[in-house]
Formats: sequence, structure tokens, C-alpha cells
Amino acid sequence: MFKNSKSVFAVALILLIWFVSTSYAQTKTIKDGVFTEAQVEAGQNAYEANCNVCHNIKFYRDIWKGWIDKPLLNFWYTIVAEMPADNPGSLLDAEYTYIVANILSEMGFPSGDTVLDPNNGMGQINIVSP
Ligand code: HEC
Repeated sequence: MFKNSKSVFAVALILLIWFVSTSYAQTKTIKDGVFTEAQVEAGQNAYEANCNVCHNIKFYRDIWKGWIDKPLLNFWYTIVAEMPADNPGSLLDAEYTYIVANILSEMGFPSGDTVLDPNNGMGQINIVSP
């Protein structure tokens, strides 16, 4: 009996550790340096060539509220699917990723050592307010 409750305790402890570590993985936000400075720079030309004619940075400040607490991947995917409005999906995935890095940087979020990649963890990065 004692032996059993000990193993129940052990299982509960493992579950707790698992739960805590996965919730940490999910609480990464765009404030955690989730893109590199090189991506921001690469995004600048792509942004000017494909987006600037219709949206300046003020546009993102205005729509940001609607994106808070959503995964960054959703934002990326919306842009891939719908933008540029006159030619949706016309850019490479990498160019869209650079553009997202550029937008985040212009919004005041910090760059870091992690390369932003839609195939690697972007769904676990939450959008937050600046
Ligand atoms: C020809 C004009 C035009 C171009 C070019 C353009 N957009 Fe848009 N964009 C629009 C319009 C129109 C909307 C929808 C109306 C609105 O939300 O103001 C929109 C909406 C958006 C939204 C809001 C989506 C949402 O649901 O919240 C984002 C983000 C966005 N555009 C980003 C971009 C990016 C990044 C580029 C460059 C790759 C780009 N747009 C190029 C016209 C354009």
C-alpha cells in the first residue's frame, strides 16, 4: 500500500513537471527575441517593395489589439494567404517571414539569436501588446 501511494506520487510529480514544462513552451512571446536582426534587414526591402504602398507602421498599431494572445503563426499565415491584397501568396515563404520580423521590429519588439521559422515553433509564440 505504501509502495503504491509512493508510485502514485511519482507519477503525479512527473505529470506536474511535464505540464509545467509544456506550459512554459507555450508562453513564449514575441518579446523573447524570436527573430534575428538579419531577418529584420532582409524584411526591409521586401516590405518596401510589396507592402509599404498600402500599409505604414501605424496600420499595425491599429490592428494589433485583434491579434493579442494569438499565435504568431496565425499572423504569418494570414499575410501569406491574403497579402499583398492585389497579389496574395506571390512572395516566397521566407520573404513573408522576413516581413513579419521587420514588422515586429518596427513595432518595437527585440531581435535575438533565434531564427524565426514558420516550420519550427512559430505556433508556440504568442502575440502580446508592445
Ligand atoms: C494593394 C494594397 C495592399 C498591399 C500591397 C498589401 N496590403 Fe495588407 N491589406 C490591404 C487591405 C485592403 C487589407 C484589409 C483591410 C484592412 O484591414 O484595412 C489589408 C489587411 C492587412 C492585414 C490585416 C489582416 C487582419 O486580418 O488583421 C495585415 C497584417 C496586412 N494587410 C499586411 C500586409 C503585408 C505584410 C503586406 C506585404 C506583403 C501587405 N499587407 C500588402 C491592402 C494591401
